[in-house]
Amino acid sequence: MITFTLNGREVSIDTDPDTPLLWVIRDEIGLTGTKFGCGIGMCGACTVHVGGQATRACITFVGDVEGAEVTTIEGLDPLGNHPVQEAWRKLRVPQCGYCQSGQIMQAAALLKDIPDPSDDDIDAVMTGNLCRCMTYPRIRRAVREAAN
Ligand code: FES
Repeated sequence: MITFTLNGREVSIDTDPDTPLLWVIRDEIGLTGTKFGCGIGMCGACTVHVGGQATRACITFVGDVEGAEVTTIEGLDPLGNHPVQEAWRKLRVPQCGYCQSGQIMQAAALLKDIPDPSDDDIDAVMTGNLCRCMTYPRIRRAVREAAN
């Protein structure tokens, strides 16, 4: 049995500790806001927070989050009104939307570490989160908006 905190609630999962955290979140717990993109840690679609740090859930074993605090897009703000989410809506960042929960989780972690990031800071941190619709300019503007 593996126990951790998910979005503020303790969960216990009877599964192989080598199961990717992404599978547990989506398939066993049923929170589907966190997306599967590449499965090898390269695209960022599966970004969640573990202990407040942006983490690729597809390459994180659930056994490695025993006792940790995990936050998904569903738990970032109970009403979906985290400053990053507000900025994303205001600037209409998403196009197809598939990568955007990962983008938002990455941006929220960035702003926790660097409350007033430069464009270079934003690019350095967000560069690992890929968007096939090329929403990068709006993502950058929205991160700056959320920082204000
Ligand atoms: Fe995890 Fe692409 S699905 S980084």
